[in-house]
Amino acid sequence: MITIENESEGLKKSIFEFFRMKLPKDYKKLDIDLKIKVEEKVIYIEVLGNRIKESEELIIKGESPHFIIKRFLFDLFSNYKDFDSSFGTLTGVRPLKLISKVFESNSYENSKKILFDKYRINREDIDFLYRVYKNQEKVRNNSSTKNYNVYVHIPFCPSRCLYCSFDTTVENKEKMNLYTKNLIEDIKNYKLDFLSEPNSLYIGGGTPTSIGLNNLEKIIDVILKKFKNTKEFTVECGRIDSLNVEILEMLKNNGVNRISLNPQTFNENVINKLNRTSNENIKYWFDKAREIGFDVINMDLIMGLPGESKESILNSIKKAIEFSPENITIHTLALKNGSKLFENNYINKEDYSDLLRESKTLMLNSSYEPYYIYRQKKSVISSENVGYAKKGYSSIYNIVMMEELENIIGFGLGASTKILDSRGKFNRKLNSKNLEEYLTRR
Ligand SMILES: C[S@@+](CC[C@H](N)C(=O)[O-])C[C@H]1O[C@@H](n2cnc3c(N)ncnc32)[C@H](O)[C@@H]1O
Ligand code: SF4
Repeated sequence: MITIENESEGLKKSIFEFFRMKLPKDYKKLDIDLKIKVEEKVIYIEVLGNRIKESEELIIKGESPHFIIKRFLFDLFSNYKDFDSSFGTLTGVRPLKLISKVFESNSYENSKKILFDKYRINREDIDFLYRVYKNQEKVRNNSSTKNYNVYVHIPFCPSRCLYCSFDTTVENKEKMNLYTKNLIEDIKNYKLDFLSEPNSLYIGGGTPTSIGLNNLEKIIDVILKKFKNTKEFTVECGRIDSLNVEILEMLKNNGVNRISLNPQTFNENVINKLNRTSNENIKYWFDKAREIGFDVINMDLIMGLPGESKESILNSIKKAIEFSPENITIHTLALKNGSKLFENNYINKEDYSDLLRESKTLMLNSSYEPYYIYRQKKSVISSENVGYAKKGYSSIYNIVMMEELENIIGFGLGASTKILDSRGKFNRKLNSKNLEEYLTRR
């Protein structure tokens, strides 16, 4: 067990998180006692464990104590077997938020030095993050804190996939109709303080297409009336068992120009055990979407699903590349509360060493550039999720949302709204995640 003696709950939480991310396999077995005392100019730290007995005085020089302590622990534990050194001491969801500030104000060579000295981020990770940052350049340059984007959440799915922890409910006609009605009221009643059109529109989920043609068309109609269309309008169509030709045509006729069709894996033995539909017909739907004329198709994949070997994962990536979609998003499986896999105490024992590196090489060699990155806790491999795009096809919404570059107005269950306040800070408001509450509130 890890024990930490310190009065700040925030600091303790951040250090527990550090150990969980850096030593995921050993985290539960670790026996370490930490005593930390933070004074104005110095941190006294004592670490006691089986193979460790260290005490140190760390000088505070214009840095947050969190970073100084984590850097010290990083150096102390970095030669442990299975230590995950990726992203150095950073454990947050948006690694580029902090790092982009370093890239912005320093040369590339100096950035490398700063990022290693401060956060222990290795050369390979910095190179990759820099590449992501450069691929965001156009969207970053065109972004403005005066712009806004609209996100609409649809929390229904054809079935619940075993790995999924999202707040989503299996399709239910009555609930979906009521949800549509309330959602439409929310959108209509929203007091819009922006004069211009949005920078992007995004309907996500769940599975938006599972709410049915009529409901989805009504929702889109009210969105377009309230906000007007814009250059990027995404609707997630992730589950092919939620599709029909009429829905795709309706989306196209309403100006939707980016959709996703998500195989997650092309290994049929794996997909069939996830309470999710087979990918046998995905080629039919992909070709249909092309025929109907969607400019941008995204495919989501997850690495590390039960029964997947490193080879079968790389094989799925190769199959996705063969489809030649404009975007491919590669996630690493996260085992989170609320998913069946987590409840069933699923443990992944596969050897995925070098999988991340090889997946990146494969994508780069196939002309896909990484354009956004985020990390998830409780991941079975490393924690990163990377969105790739062919040249010129980076998604505006994914970049401005992930890097918090612009205002986002969120509608629907669990959606978050982030609006810049007069002090230059994003004010976040999170909608309730309770479906019954959402349906019965009026
Ligand atoms: C919000 S989900 C919606 C996608 C859509 N309903 C579908 O299933 O195709 C977005 C993506 O997150 C990824 N995802 C979902 N659960 C995950 C998990 N436990 N670990 C890693 N990625 C996950 C999947 O790739 C999924 O397509
Ligand atoms: S992965 Fe997608 S389809 Fe499956 S339950 Fe989660 S949101 Fe629904």
